[in-house]
Amino acid sequence: MAVAGRTPAVARTRAELAEALGPRRSQGSLALVPTMGALHEGHASLVRVARGRAGDDGAVVVSIFVNPLQFGPGEDLDRYPRTFDADLEVCAREGVDVVFAPTVAEMYPGGVPTGEDSPAVTLDPGPLAGVLEGRTRPGHFRGVLTVVAKLFGLVRPDLAVFGEKDYQQLVLIRRMAEDLCLSGSVGPLEVVGAPTDREPDGLARSSRNRYLDEEQRLQATVLHRVLVAARRDAVYGLERALGAGRAELRAAQGVDLDYFEVRAPDLGELTDDAPPGTPARALIAARVGSTRLIDNTALTLGVPPTEGSS
Ligand code: PAF
Repeated sequence: MAVAGRTPAVARTRAELAEALGPRRSQGSLALVPTMGALHEGHASLVRVARGRAGDDGAVVVSIFVNPLQFGPGEDLDRYPRTFDADLEVCAREGVDVVFAPTVAEMYPGGVPTGEDSPAVTLDPGPLAGVLEGRTRPGHFRGVLTVVAKLFGLVRPDLAVFGEKDYQQLVLIRRMAEDLCLSGSVGPLEVVGAPTDREPDGLARSSRNRYLDEEQRLQATVLHRVLVAARRDAVYGLERALGAGRAELRAAQGVDLDYFEVRAPDLGELTDDAPPGTPARALIAARVGSTRLIDNTALTLGVPPTEGSS
């Protein structure tokens, strides 16, 4: 078991990872928290969920890897924040056992696969990757699933924790684990979703929030406001859940809406005649300045909201 405040073992290569995990494999559950670094309180909350599930006898592994395969041309791969020393401090504070921080060459020894004619095997995420985020970011989920599958193969965790903030990613990773029959040491690999961690004014914590200047930071709070309104108005059905939010977003200064949709929890389509009590998810993406932000919330159509849903 790791002790909070003690620097975790750091593995840079597959061999170092195998060595760090070797003695820990027989001791209890192995929980993985995949990240791209630039760790903040939201990541710390994922680590706490992982520790809660792995228990004191188990081990928590955090991976830190900015995955080039999930960034499209013109996206922020080069400027994505890299803050390894600070990340290590967060991991030490949270009692992480092992940090796996490979290089690009270590993860993609044959080179990062590019385009359709690359000989490398990558994962086809299926049609769900073509909606919402996938419409604006073609190839993004192929990159996410490919790197997550590699991390699962290297760490061989019993469970892995992902934030609900990246809801489509969570749904697709769950789907991958199920459809490809991925397993941990004693049973199916469990993909655990952790609630979105928020700033006091409701903005979802994200590594990309640090790109926002003071004015944009204020403008960005509209995303959460709109989701809260959608949860409230869902009692009147799907169209009403979207209506007030769309108007507020159209009027919002400095905010360029990409999508605001209500879908089923598995991201299937819903219609306005869905029966009362139908569980749903409202999802939003918008650009504030040049920063693309996403957020989402659970809601129930035809039923007043309950306290505390994220
Ligand atoms: O959510 C992220 O930080 C990334 O998409 C992930 C899951 C670590 C894969 O690179």
